[in-house]
Amino acid sequence: MPETTEIIRISDPAAEASEIERAGQILREGGLVAFPTETVYGLGGNALLPESSRRIYAAKGRPSDNPLIVHIAETEELFSLAAEVPQPALTLAEAFWPGPMTLILKKSRAVPGQTTGGLDTVAIRLPSHPVARALIKAAGVPIAAPSANSSGRPSPTTAEHVIEDLFGKIDMIIDGGESDIGLESTIIDLTGEKPELLRPGFISEQAVTEVIGSVEKDPSILASPAEGTAPRAPGMKYRHYAPAADMYLISGEKEKVREKIRLLVSEAGSRGEKPAVICASQDAGCFEGAAVFSVGSAEDEREIAHRLFSVLRETDKTGVDIIFAEMLGGEQLDLAIKNRMLKAAGYKVIEV
Ligand code: TXA
Ligand code: MG
Repeated sequence: MPETTEIIRISDPAAEASEIERAGQILREGGLVAFPTETVYGLGGNALLPESSRRIYAAKGRPSDNPLIVHIAETEELFSLAAEVPQPALTLAEAFWPGPMTLILKKSRAVPGQTTGGLDTVAIRLPSHPVARALIKAAGVPIAAPSANSSGRPSPTTAEHVIEDLFGKIDMIIDGGESDIGLESTIIDLTGEKPELLRPGFISEQAVTEVIGSVEKDPSILASPAEGTAPRAPGMKYRHYAPAADMYLISGEKEKVREKIRLLVSEAGSRGEKPAVICASQDAGCFEGAAVFSVGSAEDEREIAHRLFSVLRETDKTGVDIIFAEMLGGEQLDLAIKNRMLKAAGYKVIEV
């Protein structure tokens, strides 16, 4: 374990080329560097070194059967990491890279099994964040990077979140400001008969369908593991994004949802519990007797996506006992937002 964690701030990678070079060298030589991406912060290590992947799992406290996403700086790198690159993969890469899209392909022998959790497939993504791209280029090797949170906690969207979880456990944290999107990348598996959506993200199913035709959808995206749907992305099976307090989602018609939450808040209060409510900004004034966390306007799905993980972390800091959250959603991001909320709540939904 490193003696301490160095924290550096980089807003313009071109202006701070020597710092980027130094961070790249740490990665190349097997160290761990957390860095900003447009989705969430990543915890980077050299994807070609089994020892780096082992360190990533240890720092996150992550089960080692949960494969890592390999980040590249140029599309060409696909060909050395994947054993086969089918046409839909190239089409998706052309349409959405650099950006929040991860492709699952058959792995080449260059990628160690430690990086892929023992699978013969590999997840590959070319991020658009300028600091991420400059860093991967400087490292000169592909970078394995899961979200830079402790396993189970909400993904980090600021350097402060990374510091909370990983300070003292990794070599360096690059603070590049808040992540723009706030939810992890869309994952498409291209190793089966038909392309399959394994994790919904900022790039919607509809946007994917427009470029490669229809995709299958992993049924576990909106269903509890208790319903017997084992997710195809190993990481999707673990309790995830979870705040410390017990969380319930309230779903249904708006006014009924508000009424139900008011009732639940008052019942929690009479049990002597400290309740919190997570809701759209329009409803923030509706819940007396609870700590209220607004995620953003119900009309603005990008804001909800951007703030959700951050709000889940804020609830932890206020020491509440129980959380009631309005089931939020949107248009393009509906599946992605609902998927993260369901997982955060451990699939506890109260329909009204
Ligand atoms: O936006 C993102 O994708 C962020 C940033 C840092 O790039 N990364 C991220 O990584 O979310 P992570 O490790 O937190 O989530 C990776 C997900 C997990 O659910 C994992 O099981 C799945 O991708 N995955 C990785 N490789 C896979 C593979 N070969 N087959 C199926 N699922 C895979
Ligand atoms: Mg993660």
